[in-house]
Amino acid sequence: MKNIILCGFMGCGKSTVGRALSQLADMKFIDTDSFIEENKKMTISEIFEKFGEKHFRLLEKEAAEKLSDIGGFVIATGGGMLLNSEIAEIFKKNGDIVFLDTPLSIILDRLKNDSSRPLLMRPDRDEYIPKLHRERYPKYLSAANIKFDTSNLTAFQSAKQILEIIKNQRM
Ligand code: S3P
Repeated sequence: MKNIILCGFMGCGKSTVGRALSQLADMKFIDTDSFIEENKKMTISEIFEKFGEKHFRLLEKEAAEKLSDIGGFVIATGGGMLLNSEIAEIFKKNGDIVFLDTPLSIILDRLKNDSSRPLLMRPDRDEYIPKLHRERYPKYLSAANIKFDTSNLTAFQSAKQILEIIKNQRM
């Protein structure tokens, strides 16, 4: 059974929309950050601190391989995961990749007080997030086969529309 993979910037709603999608489609839900944390028995921040970002990116690739092999998941990926074109290829073999395009203003608001994301633990976060968003945007676009604008929609509304798009594409 195919996967539905959600990608996009930190705070774009991958987990919330993903959970709604998994309920509507009656599929299992998995968040790659939680999957890695459970396997390693460490938080993402601890993994970054102890082993570095490069190692975390390898763990993401391993997670993609495993989840792609199993299938039948709605997968909320980490915001940096689909920047790796090899991971995009792995996921494409067994699923649809949906880029959740959420306005930067909403993303900024959601990430305002966040302390769980190691990449954002820096004094210039307000300038850094828009810069990173600009750099990453074309990569999310090229990784995904579906781009979905979540503006003004609840998670369930987004999930319902995404499911329709996927059903039509798979017919
Ligand atoms: C990251 C996003 C995070 C997490 C890690 C790195 C990124 O996931 O994987 O902190 O590079 O954008 P979320 O997108 O779920 O916040």
